[in-house]
This record gives sequence, structure tokens and C-alpha cells, in this order.
Amino acid sequence: MSEVDDEAVVVERLQGWVRSVHGRLPLYSRLVETALDHRRVHRLLLAAPPEQRIPVLLLAAVHALVLDHPDSALARHYPNLTEHPAGDDPAPAFLEFCADHEAELSQLIATRTVQTNEVGRCALLLPVFGMLEREGVGPLAMVDVGTSAGLNLGIDRYRYSYVRDGEPVATIAGDGALGEGRRGDELPGVELSCSLRGDVPLPTTMPAIAARVGLDRTPVDLADPAQVRWLEACVWPEQPERFHRLRAATAVVRALRPDVRAGDAVDDLSALVSTMAGEGHPVVVNTWVLNYLDAEQRRRYVAALETLGQSLGDLSWVYAESPSAVGPDVPVSDRADLVDATVLSLVRWRSGERDVQHLASAHPHGHWLNWI
Ligand SMILES: C[S@@+](CC[C@H](N)C(=O)[O-])C[C@H]1O[C@@H](n2cnc3c(N)ncnc32)[C@H](O)[C@@H]1O
Repeated sequence: MSEVDDEAVVVERLQGWVRSVHGRLPLYSRLVETALDHRRVHRLLLAAPPEQRIPVLLLAAVHALVLDHPDSALARHYPNLTEHPAGDDPAPAFLEFCADHEAELSQLIATRTVQTNEVGRCALLLPVFGMLEREGVGPLAMVDVGTSAGLNLGIDRYRYSYVRDGEPVATIAGDGALGEGRRGDELPGVELSCSLRGDVPLPTTMPAIAARVGLDRTPVDLADPAQVRWLEACVWPEQPERFHRLRAATAVVRALRPDVRAGDAVDDLSALVSTMAGEGHPVVVNTWVLNYLDAEQRRRYVAALETLGQSLGDLSWVYAESPSAVGPDVPVSDRADLVDATVLSLVRWRSGERDVQHLASAHPHGHWLNWI
């Protein structure tokens, strides 16, 4: 492809992105519209490999540098960085910022990919861990596949507020890595709120986790400020609660120092789960990971779990995944509503026999849980 064709693809993607957000993100929409009008800005994306030339990569690179320059004129427009964002047009500040930081932007765009870790999904996993505890499997040995920065691994360190029709129904809190006690109202740190529909079997106490490990092909190292900064930059500034929650969760998990390993979901799963089975009841978790695997990889992932389930006898697998990533390769109950936002399922092997339970559909970031 010629450079002109490459640029045409970038322009098309930027235009498509603006159309897809329907003005829902006024700041980001304006920045992308401005980029579209300025070749020097949208051409920055040409530094990335072709498949990575996506608008959110440009936006994340700009956001990363804005986080490094909180006193810049552009930072005044970011709702996650100021309580009262500037009301004037951000376009001039954006163009000036891109010109001032052109080399750094190119460097980020050439070397980074968009990677996120949404801690809100723990509010979906918690009731399932509670079900396992009630079943009497004993303390859990958690293997979080596609763990990113490992925020799911801090599941028992957050505070959960479950509400129904706007009314609080339960608060469950664990020992915060930063916190002082088990009583939820004393706990600083991460608060996850989830609105319930249906008869969700909430635990009354925090399920016990005996051991935990994360696996990711490119784990985010929370001890590296540049990696943490990039993770933050991939969150949209127009979702400030999400941004602040991420910051709080990274602090909790950094203090927890979970074992997070670089490796492949398919090739490295069996050895890791077999080791963890000696530490407690093995629970494999994956949240919004299967859409990164192609059909063949998904089949191999499920086959590896099946082999583990039969050889270990007892194994649990909890997934919260995009409907597009489950079925026909991933076992899903025929009760699953595959048009909804996230499919939450529990697959159990007990004495080597497999049982698949579709539990709920849910918001992709854990804002609501619709139990079947
Ligand atoms: C959308 S993120 C989800 C992260 C986290 N589970 C969450 O819910 O926030 C997908 C993660 O899967 C990881 N991933 C993708 N393919 C993988 C593979 N084959 N093996 C291991 N990790 C993989 C990516 O690096 C990324 O961190």
C-alpha cells in the first residue's frame, strides 16, 4: 500500500470513530475531528504498524503525555484531571500540544498498543466465587488468564456495594491492601458499585483466596511508572470515575504484589493451573480476553481446560466475555442471551464431569448484573 492509501485508511478510521461515538464524548470527538482537519496530526498514526493505526491509540498517546504535563493548556480540558474543565474549544490547545510533543507522540504510537484493565468486572466475579465457597470447595487458587495488570487478582481487597432499584442491598469488603480492617465503612481504596437484577446469590463474607496468579502475553508491570501511566492513558478522560477507580485499584494491587507471569493463554495454561491446584481449589478466570483469541486458539484453550478438568477431577472456570467470543467454540448454556453485553458463566468439573451454567448477562464494566 502507498503512503497515500495508508493515510486514507487512517482518515476513514478517524471518521468512523467520530460517527460511532455519536457525540457521547465531546472532548474526544472534538480532538479527533480536529486531527482529521490536520494532516500533521492524523499522520502521527502512520508510525504504528498498520493494524494498530486506530484513533484510540492516538488519543491514548496524547492522554499519556497530558498526564505527564498536567499544567499544559490541553490538560485543562480533561475531566479526569480537573473538577471544572475549561469550556472553550480544546482544538487550539490540542494542535499546540501535538506540535510541541510530536517526537514523543510518534514514539508512543510506534511502540505501544491499547491495553486496559477494568477492575469493575470483579463485581461480576464475586457472586460466582461466593457460589463456589457455599458449595464447599474450600479456599480458592485463582488463575486469571489475560490478567493485564492483575486487577482481578485483588478481588478480595475491594469494597462492593450492590444496589437494587437504586437502594443498597449489600456491602461486602475485604482487607484492603491499604486498609485498616474488614468493616467496609473503614476501608479506603476501591469501591465497586453494581446494580442487581434477578436473584443474585451474594456472599455474606469475602470468599477466601488461598493463592492467586495472573497470566498475560504482555502483563502490565505495576512497579513501572511508565507502564502504569500508559494503562491510565488508555482510559477515556470523559469517564473520570473509571480513571480514578483504576488509580485506586493499581495502588491496592501494587501493594498486594500478586504473581503475574508473561505467557500465553493457550500454551502456558495447563502447567500453571496444575501447579496452582496444589494450593487450593483451582479457579480459572478470564474476563474480556477470548475476543483476542482466534477460533482455533479458543478451541485449544477450551480443550486444555477440559483435559485439566478431567485430570484434576475438580476445577472451576468462570468467564465474563463478549457474546461474540463465546459459542460455538466456548461452552455456553442454551439459556445464555448472546445479544446482551457480557456473558457470565461458570463451568465446573467435579470428579471429572463437566457442568456448564450460564449465570448472568452483565455490563462489560460491571455496572449491572442481570442474573438468570
Ligand atoms: C481487554 S484486556 C482484559 C484484561 C482484564 N482481563 C480485564 O478484564 O480488564 C485483554 C488482555 O488479554 C491479554 N491477552 C490477549 N491474548 C492473550 C494470549 N494469547 N495469552 C495471554 N494473554 C492474552 C492482553 O494482553 C490483555 O491484557
